[in-house]
Amino acid sequence: MHIDIISVLPEMFKGVIDCSILKRAQNKGLVEIEVHNLRDYTTNKHRQVDDYPFGGEAGMVLQIEPIDNIISALKEKRTYDEIIYTSPDGEVFDQQIANQMSSYKNIIILCGHYKGIDYRVREHLITREISIGDYVLTGGELAAAVMTDAIVRLIPGAIGDEQSALSDSFQDNLLAPPVYTRPADYKGWKVPEILLSGHQAKIDDWKLQQSMERTERLRPDLLNKKE
Ligand code: ADE
Repeated sequence: MHIDIISVLPEMFKGVIDCSILKRAQNKGLVEIEVHNLRDYTTNKHRQVDDYPFGGEAGMVLQIEPIDNIISALKEKRTYDEIIYTSPDGEVFDQQIANQMSSYKNIIILCGHYKGIDYRVREHLITREISIGDYVLTGGELAAAVMTDAIVRLIPGAIGDEQSALSDSFQDNLLAPPVYTRPADYKGWKVPEILLSGHQAKIDDWKLQQSMERTERLRPDLLNKKE
């Protein structure tokens, strides 16, 4: 998979992309992540990529020209399954969308900006608008990083133990059951007896019941999503 991220703040991705599972997935050749600085695609001699809005609103607006330039340049190299724009008014990102996107070959994520973006970008250049939740971030960089992490960890081989991605919370619209490790008794706080019993079928049953109970209690809305 190849992910191209377009941003005016490419330095924001450094720590995220070069750590943990994202780093390992890149080292294993499962994904290539390229972060592009939008300013490299403007013809403006001061590398400015925004301008005043028509109609007199406050703030500056990202211009269409550098965005069109970079998207056109990228499209000459690859065919994209999706060209995504991060925005608080987009479709809300969830595990199903992450699953779907983890099977894609190439995507572009264009990071939105608090100042706004020329609407023609959204009308003509992108294929999907995604929000990571009902709150407003300063820019789309954190949203792009969140999406990239959620997508890449689902690529087969990215996580050592394949089973652990399958048993994630949300993977089947159920929250994950609690997990414990040694010591079995810490200050009198005990690990549930069943987990120490060695009866795998009973343990699996317990886990499912815990998942159901936690989902009903904490996220009943998810149960309505289950077919
Ligand atoms: N940009 C600003 N807020 C955002 C959000 N909640 N999701 C995606 N992009 C954003």
